[in-house]
Amino acid sequence: MGITIRRATINDIQAMQNANLHNLPENYLLKYYMYHILSWPQASYVATTYDEIVHDEDAPIEDPKGDTAYINKGEKIVGYVLGKMEDDPAADDKTPHGHITSLSVMRTYRRMGIAEKLMRQALYAMCECFDAEYVSLHVRKSNRAALHLYRDSLQFEVTSNEKSYYQDGEDAYAMKKVLKLDELIPGLMQKSEEIDDLTSDLLDDL
Ligand code: ACO
Repeated sequence: MGITIRRATINDIQAMQNANLHNLPENYLLKYYMYHILSWPQASYVATTYDEIVHDEDAPIEDPKGDTAYINKGEKIVGYVLGKMEDDPAADDKTPHGHITSLSVMRTYRRMGIAEKLMRQALYAMCECFDAEYVSLHVRKSNRAALHLYRDSLQFEVTSNEKSYYQDGEDAYAMKKVLKLDELIPGLMQKSEEIDDLTSDLLDDL
């Protein structure tokens, strides 16, 4: 089963919203997804996989069981990250910075590194395309999996504890990560033992 990480497009937003409804209590109107993709097209990503069984050109796009994750024939979304740049004119901090609005991975695809890959792509793009100096997010204090991902895998820091941030009264940790482009290059996350110094010219060997 192959997983592809690619930029989210307008064609993906219905399936992203469905995944969000499935995985999180914080939900958004479709137009909010559209706003993200149209305003900062480089900042949101989806993880998709292909069914090996669908080869029939005339097959319907949606899975016969009504699986709302499908976006194309045989292609379905298994995770997404919805990112933006801070655009509140009333915000105190005018430093350009990104914000992770939402992240989720479908249950059967968890613990495979998909969320970390989605996040790293979004952080790199925020830094490269929009000169974001840091990225912020909120996470429930009880969300062990997400806290592990942000704090231990991605080295976010807790900046404050926001009391009753969520509608049900739970507190949030506000978290932040300073972005440095050379540390975010997607190839670095492969954890390869072989390091390509990128300085030698391949043509020299010819
Ligand atoms: N318990 C402990 N650690 C965990 C767990 C868990 N349940 N799940 C993942 N991790 C760790 C992994 O071990 C990994 O650490 P490692 O690099 O040391 O091995 C790290 O987190 C990254 O794991 P991934 O496999 O990349 O994470 P995954 O694809 O499973 O997705 C996510 C994690 C997004 C939190 C998923 O569990 C999920 O969708 N949960 C429901 C939705 C949610 O909570 N989203 C985040 C809300 S906050 C926000 O949206 C800004």
